[in-house]
Amino acid sequence: MLCQVCLCCLFFSRGFYSCRWTESNNQNRKGRWLSLLVVTLMSLLSLCWLYICFAISNDQQNVNEVLFSKLKKWANYFLVVVIISAVLASYCILLLLFALIQVALEEQLHLHWLHKIIFCFCVIFITALASGVSTKGPEEWPTVLTLLQATAPFLQFGAVGALTLLSPFVFHRFHLAKTRSKMVIAGMFLAVSAAIFLCPLLIHSPCLIEVQELPEKPKLIGHRGAPMLAPENTMMSFNRSLECGVIAFETDVQLSKNRTPFLMHDHGPDFLLRTTNVNSSSFNNSADLTFEQLRTLNAGEQFLKNDPYGTVSLLSEEEKETVRKQTIPSLLDLLDFAKQHNTSVIFDLKNKETEKNDTNDTVKTILESGIPQNLIFWLPSKERSVVKEQAPGFIHVYENETDLEKNNGSHLNVKYSEIKMKNISDLRKRNITVNLYVVNERWLFSMLWCAGASSVTTNACHLLKEMERPDWVMPRSTYLITWILVDISSALVMMALFHWTKHNLRHNADGPSNDNEQEVFLTRLP
Ligand SMILES: *[C@@H]1O[C@H](CO)[C@@H](O)[C@H](O)[C@H]1NC(C)=O
Ligand SMILES: *[C@@H]1O[C@H](CO)[C@@H](O)[C@H](O)[C@H]1NC(C)=O
Ligand SMILES: *[C@@H]1O[C@H](CO)[C@@H](O)[C@H](O)[C@H]1NC(C)=O
Repeated sequence: MLCQVCLCCLFFSRGFYSCRWTESNNQNRKGRWLSLLVVTLMSLLSLCWLYICFAISNDQQNVNEVLFSKLKKWANYFLVVVIISAVLASYCILLLLFALIQVALEEQLHLHWLHKIIFCFCVIFITALASGVSTKGPEEWPTVLTLLQATAPFLQFGAVGALTLLSPFVFHRFHLAKTRSKMVIAGMFLAVSAAIFLCPLLIHSPCLIEVQELPEKPKLIGHRGAPMLAPENTMMSFNRSLECGVIAFETDVQLSKNRTPFLMHDHGPDFLLRTTNVNSSSFNNSADLTFEQLRTLNAGEQFLKNDPYGTVSLLSEEEKETVRKQTIPSLLDLLDFAKQHNTSVIFDLKNKETEKNDTNDTVKTILESGIPQNLIFWLPSKERSVVKEQAPGFIHVYENETDLEKNNGSHLNVKYSEIKMKNISDLRKRNITVNLYVVNERWLFSMLWCAGASSVTTNACHLLKEMERPDWVMPRSTYLITWILVDISSALVMMALFHWTKHNLRHNADGPSNDNEQEVFLTRLP
């Protein structure tokens, strides 16, 4: 019975691995090692890349926007990359599984040429994308480190499990090796085990705290409104973000030809292409058009067409109708709305390099709107001193810690990956308000919550609003006990496996089967 299952396994794994369904000619030991090594490395590489994709998924909108500005065509490029990566990773892992079955059944490991070609493709694909990230978005790498920090305790448990599972293979080699190789194998194995067992000493996640110490939940700021529920930077979007209970509207301001500040993120060449119904490349600057001209454009249809967040299907027919009617708002529209709802406004000034009077005209519009000055979070750093004179009531928000300290400020707004978790809690202890952008995923929001962030700018206010606690919070003492117990049980299991493999070999050698079989066994094992 068992052997039939074995045969079946063997048949499939051999068939898949080498496309040979029958016993093949002998392969030397080096060849088998190499084959196993290649498959293992490919599995690790593809898994690491998938992990990186998972980290970057918080910023997938950035990725798509950058590619849109290059290719002038909207698509969910990120999703395509993730799907291809997931397929490649599953394929590599399946192959590794078959390789391990082959090893367990003392079979050959002839890697079929088709697998080799796919491996080459996989390496090229990942290298190309990784260098793309390095050149176009190097700020994404710290995000991966942040995810590492968030998942480190669980990765360590996984690594201990994997080490325990793989140890019999190492022990087997060890028992068969000559004295000198024995020392090398033992040395390497002990070093790797020690590193995996002891790495929790280096793990510092902000969520390793007592539940009572958990800071207040960060407030939410709507990034261009609620862009998953309505077209970004439209009045409908700000209205919907209000339903999430945001404390502020985040937006982007540019000035039209007739000096009216209006709301739009994209600037420079083809700035209308992504969000409005202009589809020819004829406008390269916000100052090319008057606000009256801009006002005639439709700012909603593109959202229904591109479905940038895959959320259009969640909208009712009535909501879709409202989307279709959206136009480009002026800053004044938003200020009136913010004033009415006692909600703050924070914005970036685009095109600030080319237009000298943008700051002046924007401040003038704000003052004329009659909005209480303390509802304005002033972010643009250029001409800050002038703004301080013109509008002493604005709250000044700084873009980095140096600038904050220099100006003795009380509000900081940085990208989440540009600040250490520990610095967030240190700044909060000094009553400095810390806002992080753009935070969309639960794992990231959880980390920043534990770290004590005051607020986050988000695309997904409707999802983060629902969270009642971080994904996980664990007291340090509980974690300490857990990892020590996990390490000890793993060590005990490995000791048992060590003796078992030794006993097994001796049994094989002493058994009725003769030396000849032992020899065959020796040569067959990689
Ligand atoms: C506006 O909100 C702030 C706090 O968010 C509150 O202190 C203030 O009283 C509110 N003002 C009005 C007019 O409701
Ligand atoms: C901090 O921000 C200011 C103003 O934007 C800028 O001039 C300065 O170079 C920044 N410093 C660092 C270290 O990034
Ligand atoms: C921070 O604010 C709290 C309450 O508003 C106050 O009790 C505390 O002394 C302040 N801490 C510092 C360092 O200013």
